[in-house]
Amino acid sequence: MPDEQKPVVLLIMGSVRAGRNCPRIAHWAARIGHASTDLAYEVIDLADWSLPMDDEPGLPHAGEYIQSHTHAWSEKVRSAAAVVFVTPQYNWGYPAPLKNAIDHLYSEWRGKPTAIISYGGHGGSKCAKQLRQVGAGLKMRVMTTAPALTLSEKVIHQQVELDPEVDLASYAGKVRKAFKELSAEIRQQGDRGKSRYAAERLLKAVAKVRKAFRERRSLSAE
Ligand SMILES: Cc1cc2nc3c(=O)[nH]c(=O)nc-3n(C[C@H](O)[C@H](O)[C@H](O)COP(=O)(O)O)c2cc1C
Repeated sequence: MPDEQKPVVLLIMGSVRAGRNCPRIAHWAARIGHASTDLAYEVIDLADWSLPMDDEPGLPHAGEYIQSHTHAWSEKVRSAAAVVFVTPQYNWGYPAPLKNAIDHLYSEWRGKPTAIISYGGHGGSKCAKQLRQVGAGLKMRVMTTAPALTLSEKVIHQQVELDPEVDLASYAGKVRKAFKELSAEIRQQGDRGKSRYAAERLLKAVAKVRKAFRERRSLSAE
């Protein structure tokens, strides 16, 4: 299938800080996804998205946004088939810009197939756990497999450049597994959507026949 026709997965990067490792990890994950599924992958840098915390007066769940950037962010997330949060752990949690980007929206997240890839000195599983809880609150479909990548001491503290192809090679299988789960969930949602559409068409056809039947009966009674 040509890339432009494939369902799009957004890899949303949790880190916006200068000198971050996040882009290397997100692009490495995207390459694995691309090679192992029939999906298209787009890396989202929240640093490119101006989402001020104080300029939307309404509650996100009402969806009545007044700012064009919120509308654009809403459309971006809504149109994606799935999302992957690629995030570091900061002080046992996930970074504030990621929470802010999530909290700008509400219904856009509902039912969204979602994977979590965390990283840190110990894999960032604490932040992944928190993110999973937030995903549950938003009724996202969070995948069971959540790769937790441990970065080396040198990468974290001595600013040695991360080479994901080498340094994270042992996690590639788990990342692949998460993308396969995501792909299966997208397919299932598509099938459920098709079944729902077929059932709706059938119900409409039955209603039409019933109406015609009632009209014929009332005509013959006159
Ligand atoms: C503010 C801050 C807090 C951090 N807290 C943790 C932590 O709780 N656990 C951990 O394993 N690593 C922690 N680290 C180390 C990060 O996992 C590591 O620096 C990682 O590269 C950060 O991702 P980034 O470079 O993409 O921003 C922290 C780093 C920063 C900047």
